[in-house]
Amino acid sequence: MCGIIAYLGPKDAPSVVLDGLKKLEYRGYDSWGIGCLSKGKILLVKKVGKVGQAKTSDLGLGAAGMAVGHTRWATHGGISEKNAHPHLDCSGKLALVHNGIVENYQELRKRLQAQNHKFVSESDTEVIVHLVENYLNLGLRKAVERAASELKGRSAFVVLDSSGEIAAARTGSPLIVGCGEGEFFIASDIPAFLSHTRKVMYLDDGQMVMIGKAGPQFFDLASGKEAKKRVVEIDWNVEAAEKGDYEHFLIKEIMEQKDTLWQAISQDEAKIAKVAGQIKDAYGTFLVGCGTAGKVCMAGEYFFAKIARKHVNFAVASEFPSYESFLQPRTLMIAVSQSGETADVLEAIAAARKKKARVISLLNVFGSTMMRVSDEVFMVNAGVEKAVVSTKATTAQLSVLLLLAYASAGRLAEGKRLLLDTASAVNDMLNPRYEEHIKRLAERLHQSEHIYIIGRGLNYPIALEAAIKIQETSYIHAEGFAGGELKHGPIALISRGTPCIVMAANDDSFHEIISNAMEVKARGGHIIGISPQNNEVFDYWIKVPDAGNASPIVNIIPVQILAYHLAVIKGLDPDMPRNLAKSVTVK
Ligand code: AGP
Repeated sequence: MCGIIAYLGPKDAPSVVLDGLKKLEYRGYDSWGIGCLSKGKILLVKKVGKVGQAKTSDLGLGAAGMAVGHTRWATHGGISEKNAHPHLDCSGKLALVHNGIVENYQELRKRLQAQNHKFVSESDTEVIVHLVENYLNLGLRKAVERAASELKGRSAFVVLDSSGEIAAARTGSPLIVGCGEGEFFIASDIPAFLSHTRKVMYLDDGQMVMIGKAGPQFFDLASGKEAKKRVVEIDWNVEAAEKGDYEHFLIKEIMEQKDTLWQAISQDEAKIAKVAGQIKDAYGTFLVGCGTAGKVCMAGEYFFAKIARKHVNFAVASEFPSYESFLQPRTLMIAVSQSGETADVLEAIAAARKKKARVISLLNVFGSTMMRVSDEVFMVNAGVEKAVVSTKATTAQLSVLLLLAYASAGRLAEGKRLLLDTASAVNDMLNPRYEEHIKRLAERLHQSEHIYIIGRGLNYPIALEAAIKIQETSYIHAEGFAGGELKHGPIALISRGTPCIVMAANDDSFHEIISNAMEVKARGGHIIGISPQNNEVFDYWIKVPDAGNASPIVNIIPVQILAYHLAVIKGLDPDMPRNLAKSVTVK
C-alpha cells in the first residue's frame, strides 16, 4: 500500500526522495508525489501512474535540503493528481503524506470546513494537514500530537514544515527513522533508504518524532514525554533488495528458494520444542493470516492434523471477529504474515491480546509491527521479498509450520531431516531446463479464460494458493478446489480444453485425486499433473520431488514459475500486479 520517504540533510533532497520512491515501488501504488522546501517555499509535484524512469531534472523542483515523497494506493477518492500526496494546508506552509485510513474523516472534514479550511481533494488524508494547521499556534510538535489524538483508524503521517522541520507520527502503520552522517530519513520501510544507511530507529505505535538539523527527538503522543531510542544496525545488504541479473524480482525470488528453505529450517530447536509444548497445552490454537499467508495457515491445520493428530483451527484474519468469543487466556494464536503489517492480522492479534491469549508470529520482516505485539516470534528468514506475489516467504512459512507440527508430535528430528532433504531436492529441481519446461506450458495456457486447480489433503490448501498465484500475475480466472468437491458443482465449468492442474502427491490421496482428474478429462478437460510420477491421465506432466509430508512446499513452486511466465508472455508486470499492494495495511 502507500509508501513514505522523507529526507533532511546535505544531499539534494528531491533526488534522494525520488530514488527512495523507486525503491518503494514494489509496495504497489497508482500515483505518487514529492514535496520539498526550496528557498523557504514548499513546492510540489504529483503524478498519476508509475515513478518508472522519472529523473529529478523532470520534476522542476530545484535544489532543496528537505523533501517528502509518497506512493499512493487509492482508498478514499479516485486515482488523480489532486488526490495524490503530499497534501497542503490552507497557507501552503505544511506538506503532509500519510499511510492508512482516517476512519472519522467525514466528521473531521465537516468540522474543519465549518472553520473555513479549504479542501481541494477527496482524500481522507487532507483532514490531517488541516488539523495540524489548526493547532500550529501551539508549535509543530504539539500540533501533531493534538491532530494524531483526533484520528480514528491506523495511520502514519509525515509533515514537512516550511520552518525547516519534519514531524512524523505513528498510530498503527509503520515508520522507521534512518540515521546517516548528518542526514536523516523517515520511511514506511527500510529499502527506501537502505543505500544510504543501515542505522535505524523504530517508532513505536503511539509515538512521534521531530527531525531538525540536530537530528531526531522522539516523544510519546499521549503523554508528550520524550522517549529514548536505540539505534539498530540492520544486516540487510543492498544487493539482496535489487534484481541482480534477473529481469524481475518475482523470478529472482522464486529461484532463491534454492537457499531460503535451508534458512527457514535453521530455527532454534529449543524454541520450536517450547512452542510445540505450548500448542499441546493450549486451550485451542488458532492459525490466522490473509491471502497466501492464510493458505499457509490452512496447510498448517492439515500438517498438525496429519502429523501430530492435533486439531488447530485455521481462520482467515478478516473473519476472525466471528471466533473472538472462543478466546481466553489459555488460547494460543499463531499469526502468519510476510510483512508483519497486515491490518486484519493485527486486529486479530489485538483481540487475542485483549483476552490475554498468547500470540506467536511467523514473520519475514524484522522490526515489523507484529514483532512488537507478539509474545514469541519465528523469523522465517526468506530475505527481502519485493515482488507483490509472495513465493519464497510462502515456502519458508510452510517449512516452519511443518517443523512445529513434527515437534508437536515429538518427532522434530524426523521433520528436520525431511525438510533438509526437501531443500536439497528443490535445489536440484530449480534449473533452467525445468523452468523452460514450465515456460512451454505457459505458452499453451496464456490465452485460457479459466484455469482450475485441484488437490486433496495437504495439497488442497496448495490448490487454493496456486489459484492466487495465477490470478495475481496473469489476471486469468483461476480457482482451486478440493478434488472431491468437483462433482458437487464445479465440474459443470469443465468443457473441451479447460485446463485443470492436478496436485497429485505420492500420499494416501493419490488414487482419489487421479480419479478426480479422470472425471475432468472425461468431460474434455486438459490435465496438467504436478506429481513425482507420471500418469496416463496427464496431458502435461510437471515432475516434482517426492517430498512426503513436505509435498505442499515442492508442489507450489512449479505454479509460481508458471504464474511468472504467464505474466511475461501476456506483457504484464509480474512484480507489480494491478490493484495489489505488498503490505495491506488497511482493513
Ligand atoms: C501473496 O501473493 C499476496 N500478495 C497476498 O495474498 C499476501 O499473502 C497477503 O496480503 C498477506 O500478506 P502478509 O503475508 O504480508 O500478511
